[in-house]
Amino acid sequence: MLNRFQFARLRGFRRGKKRAAAEEARKRDEEKRREAAPQRSLTREVEGGGDRGSPETPSNGATSGRADGGITDGWSGNERIEGLLRRHQEQRGLLSPETLGPENGATREAVPPPPTSDRVQSDVVPVEDSGGTSTEVAERTRTVAAPDGGASSSAATSAADASTQDQRVRLVEGLAATSTARVVCIASGKGGTGKSVIASNLALLRARRGERVLLIDFDAGLANAHLLLGLAPPHDVGHVMEGTVSAREALVEGPHGLKLLAGGVGRQCLIDPTRRELDRLFKALRPLEDDFDLIVIDHGAGLSYSTVAHLAAASTLLLVTNHEVTALSDGYALYKRAKLVNPEIRVGLVVNRAPDERLAMDAWNRFRGASHKFLGHAPELIGWVPADPVISQAVQLRKPAVLSFPESAAAKAITRVAAWGPMDHARTTTPFYVKARRALR
Ligand SMILES: Nc1ncnc2c1ncn2[C@@H]1O[C@H](COP(=O)(O)OP(=O)(O)OP(=O)(O)O)[C@@H](O)[C@H]1O
Ligand SMILES: [Mg+2]
Repeated sequence: MLNRFQFARLRGFRRGKKRAAAEEARKRDEEKRREAAPQRSLTREVEGGGDRGSPETPSNGATSGRADGGITDGWSGNERIEGLLRRHQEQRGLLSPETLGPENGATREAVPPPPTSDRVQSDVVPVEDSGGTSTEVAERTRTVAAPDGGASSSAATSAADASTQDQRVRLVEGLAATSTARVVCIASGKGGTGKSVIASNLALLRARRGERVLLIDFDAGLANAHLLLGLAPPHDVGHVMEGTVSAREALVEGPHGLKLLAGGVGRQCLIDPTRRELDRLFKALRPLEDDFDLIVIDHGAGLSYSTVAHLAAASTLLLVTNHEVTALSDGYALYKRAKLVNPEIRVGLVVNRAPDERLAMDAWNRFRGASHKFLGHAPELIGWVPADPVISQAVQLRKPAVLSFPESAAAKAITRVAAWGPMDHARTTTPFYVKARRALR
């Protein structure tokens, strides 16, 4: 028989044992749960099972509202890699046109829209050109787009693909545009300001720098760029206009690989070409844009029909004037006309043959003042070139001053002019001579 104290001790002992057993059972359960958890998730990952069809984890790889983007759960290895890749591209805006197929419709919205043609053209394309794509660009686009697995034809069959195709076309257009030459027009109001001297030296300096440069002498019927470069070309622009030779066949090579398309001397068809003749010529010149980095066009003085057509198509104009009021006044008239036919054209002014810096700056200030006052805008000053006797010596030698007298003040000044930044961006999304032909209509 247990007394009161012995009974109490026995009861305490039993309770302690029960508590210890319960504690042990709890620990065992916890351990089992821990072991079971990773096995479950591994099973789901390998089998692609679990909640795969649920709205939270779309099988097309679109990101879900979950913190992990729905990528870590319920996907097979390949899906997981693709999903991660796609999400990485989406986040960086790097989704390529190939990944924008109709099967990836959900991802399409995540892609930042590519630049619209307006935006691409914003600072180089004339206003009248911002709406459409020319036939020739469309042709080029088709040619370039063809190797990507016939994407063009599939786009035509499905309306759902239209926006994707649009994006592709814009991308390809942008790439194609970067492959045609930049074009710089060199013009003046008054004759004899030094356009041809500056054009030939500038083209030569750029060619020496390693650019593929073409100089076109567009001085209708009174050409002399070939004389300044010491060349005797058998063919000229007139032959190209008549169709006797192709534009490529008419080119001759000058120093540093510079190519020249000479202007005709005394040819009636060049002095007063009809609209049809000019159109034929512009069409013939168009392929040259594919062969060069930079085309420098040396115009005749004034506002001839062909000069205005060029100005309407150009992104960049280098306007040459002298410091005298007559040259300034004619230069102002040309500037005004250029802006009228092409409000987006970028114009830089060179004051050539100036006796000294003060007179050059006076001339610039007058030009700028009048332009601001009457037009509300003005060109930018590229620089001034001093009157220098070495220029006429170089003409006599038929060797441009930057080669024959590189240390002269005029050669150094022209070298600074040749570094004018906008010439490095003088490109449009439509080929130059396609636009010039449009301007003729
Ligand atoms: N910076 C200069 N210093 C001295 N003489 C110059 C300078 N620039 C040009 N000349 C001279 O001016 C004359 C005209 O030059 P150029 O033929 O280049 O002018 P142009 O504007 O092309 O003429 P045109 O309107 O007839 O095409 C040339 O005899 C040339 O030697
Ligand atoms: Mg000239």
